[in-house]
Amino acid sequence: MPKPVSGFSKKNKEEKIDWLLSNYLSHLPEAKNTLKKYWNADSELQKLHDDFIENTLSNYYLPFSIAPNFLINNTLYAIPMVIEESSVVAAASNAAKFWLDKGGFSAEVISTQKNGQIHINYYGDTKSLKNFFNEIKPLLIHAVDNIAENMKKRGGGLLDIELLDASQTLEGYYQLHCTFETLDAMGANFINSCLETIAKTFETEARKHSEFKYEVYPEVVMSILSNYVPECLVRAKVSCPVTQLSQGKIDGKTFAEKFVRAVNIAKSETRRAVTHNKGIMNGIDAVILATGNDFRAVEAGVHAYAAKNGYYSSLTHATIEDETFNFWIEIPLALGTVGGLTSLHPLVKLAFEILQKPNAKQLMQLVAVAGLAQNFAAIRSLVTTGIQKGHMKMHLMNILNQLGATEEEKRKTVQHFKDTTVSHTAVVNYLENIRNS
Ligand code: MEV
Repeated sequence: MPKPVSGFSKKNKEEKIDWLLSNYLSHLPEAKNTLKKYWNADSELQKLHDDFIENTLSNYYLPFSIAPNFLINNTLYAIPMVIEESSVVAAASNAAKFWLDKGGFSAEVISTQKNGQIHINYYGDTKSLKNFFNEIKPLLIHAVDNIAENMKKRGGGLLDIELLDASQTLEGYYQLHCTFETLDAMGANFINSCLETIAKTFETEARKHSEFKYEVYPEVVMSILSNYVPECLVRAKVSCPVTQLSQGKIDGKTFAEKFVRAVNIAKSETRRAVTHNKGIMNGIDAVILATGNDFRAVEAGVHAYAAKNGYYSSLTHATIEDETFNFWIEIPLALGTVGGLTSLHPLVKLAFEILQKPNAKQLMQLVAVAGLAQNFAAIRSLVTTGIQKGHMKMHLMNILNQLGATEEEKRKTVQHFKDTTVSHTAVVNYLENIRNS
C-alpha cells in the first residue's frame, strides 16, 4: 500500500522515479528504463522541458507533422500539426489540396477583444454600488497603469470596466466585467494581473466610501480572465461552383446537397453536433499544440460558443446559393504568438518559422482554416465512402506495430490492403497467413 509522501517536489528526478517505482511500480522492473529512454541526450534541452512543469520524470512524445498546400488569403502555407490520431494530417492535407485549385481558403479576423471578471458579493442597495462604481471607475482604470505600460505603448491594454448586476440570477452577485486588447499575447497573465490589481483597489476604496453604511461592503470573491471570448472572433471560408465538387461517380450538385444536409444535421442535433465539432477540433488542437498555445482554453471557449444560442450546435455552416457552394466556420480564439511557450520550446519556435512568423491575428486565421479543412475532409468522407475506409488505412501501421510486424511483413500487408477494407481482425488473419506460409 503506497504511503503519502512529503517534500516530493524537493527530490531529484532519480529519487522521484525510485519513489514511484517502490510505491506503485514494483511489479514493473523495466519502468525506470522506459522513463529514461525518453530523456533527451541534450541535457540543456532536457532541463528546459523539466522546468516547464513540476515533478517531471520524463518526456511524452507526440508526432510533429505538417500538412502542406494550404492556400490561405493567397499565401501558401505548410501547417504544423501535433496530434496522435491517425488520418488527421492526411485529411487536412487532402482538404488543402482539394481547395488549392479552387481559390483556396479566405480568412478574416472579426474582433480581438478579450475579457476577465472580478466577481463580487454585495447585499446592500444596488444604487449605492452603482454610485460608488461610477465615482471610482477612473481610479480603477488608472490602478493598472504600471502593469499596462508596455502593452499600452504597443496599442493594447485595459479597454473598459463595466459593473454588471447579476443579482437576479444569483442573490448578491455582481461583476466588474473588464475588457482588454492584448495584441500578439494570449494575455492570460496580463489580464489576471490587471484584474487582481483592480480588485484590490475596488475593495480598498469600498471600505472607506460613504455609500456603504452599516458595514455592508461589496466583497471580492475572485478575479480571473474568461476563456469565453466571443468578442475575439475569426471566420474562415471556402466557396466554389457546385459543378467543381464532383466526387467519383457523385456529381457536384448532389455532393454539395449531401454536404449541406450533413452540416444542417449537426446544426440541429446535439449528438451529431458534438462529433462534428470534435472533428473540427482535431485540426484546431493540432495547430494549437504545435504553436504552444493553450488547447484547454481554446476547447472550453469554442464549445461555449457552439452553444451560444442556448443549445449546442455546429461551428461550421454551409449553403448553396446560385449554384455556388459556401462553407465557413466562425469561432472565438484567444491565441498568442509571443509569451508562454512560444519563445521557449524549440519545436514551437520552429512551427512559427514554418508558418512564416505570423502575428496573433494571422495565427487565428490559420487555426480557423485548419478546423474548417478538417471538417470538410470528415464530411466529404462521411457522405461518400464512409469514414472507416481512409481512417483504417491510416491506422493500419498502428495495428501492425501492436502486432509486432517486421518491416517485410508491414510492406506486404500495406500492399495487400491497398484495395481491401482494413479491420483489426482482417489484419491479424492476414499476418497469421503470411507467417504460416
Ligand atoms: C474523428 O476523429 C472525427 C470524426 O468523427 C468527425 C466527424 O464525424 O465529423 C470523423
